[in-house]
Amino acid sequence: MSSAGQQLDTNCMTLTRFVLAEQRKVPGATGDLTQLLNSLQSAVKAVSSAVRKAGITKLFGISGETNVQGEEVKKLDVLSNELFINLLRSSYTTCLLVSEENETVIEVETEKQGKYIVCFDPLDGSSNIDCLVSIGSIFAIFKKTGDGAPTTADALQPGRNMVAAGYALYGSATMLVLSTGHGVNGFMLDPAIGEFVLTDPSMTVPSRGKIYSINEGYAHLWEPAVAEYVASKKDPARGKPYGARYVGSMVADVHRTLKYGGIFMYPATKDAPKGKLRLLYECNPMAFIISQAGGLASNGVKPILDLVPEGIHQRAPIFLGSKDDVQDVLDLIKKHSA
Ligand code: AHM
Ligand code: MG
Repeated sequence: MSSAGQQLDTNCMTLTRFVLAEQRKVPGATGDLTQLLNSLQSAVKAVSSAVRKAGITKLFGISGETNVQGEEVKKLDVLSNELFINLLRSSYTTCLLVSEENETVIEVETEKQGKYIVCFDPLDGSSNIDCLVSIGSIFAIFKKTGDGAPTTADALQPGRNMVAAGYALYGSATMLVLSTGHGVNGFMLDPAIGEFVLTDPSMTVPSRGKIYSINEGYAHLWEPAVAEYVASKKDPARGKPYGARYVGSMVADVHRTLKYGGIFMYPATKDAPKGKLRLLYECNPMAFIISQAGGLASNGVKPILDLVPEGIHQRAPIFLGSKDDVQDVLDLIKKHSA
């Protein structure tokens, strides 16, 4: 390395370049998905910038409003939601948007409509904002199937129909992980040039890991199968115990699972029989990424991607990660229900 520091890569694979190259592989592609992903990328860059200077610009703290789930809305949540909505609307590629922060679907003005539907959580992990722990954005992209004006029903497609999905992690660096259905690729934001650069090509989740990730504070509310599974991971008589890691930001917990392997769980509890996490913009996109990376994602009984949504804010229990680890818990669930 020279005294001037690391040399600039004059031929680096930026996200924009990558998406454009992918588009060229699809005969007859219109370029709409490329345009949509470019707009999403801009939204993520703007959110990342806001996250990095939130304290200085006084974006921390509650805004005084509550969202549709009755939770306090942080200022950063509001800003991120506006960025996602405005950039997606103005991309001329979407017709319908589903956001965690909006009670009903958002229909794009007719003159700006395109064929895509985007479901997103603009800023997930809200309880971690004020203490500077990692947070993220999550998105799932579908095509509108029917003719006519877009309606809520168009957004209620099973995850299998997904065209693309991804997440952005605002961690010690900003990372964008994307799949358009041909594997998973990770891009790190290089603040020096303001571009996402391909750092993790063809990501795969190890078939078995050494980490389990679940909020153990709810152990008294778990089903017996989940309790037995977690106990087995801590029992030295059954092999070297797994390590426990739980950030409480789904994006961070899923990203670690993708990189290191292991299992992330947000099961049903006695208090929340459908779990906590939302199917359309939390479980589905993460299930798509993990499946594309060779892992498994299930609600305990069925693959997440096979669930047919009934409502845009519907919840689902989720078990996701290394295929052998997830299979172990699924086997126990099956045993207990027999
Ligand atoms: P949020 O959308 O209000 O931020 O909640 C979602 C988050 C996920 O990121 C995380 O996996 C989960 O809630 C943690 O919940 P809990 O605090 O119950 O463990
Ligand atoms: Mg969320």
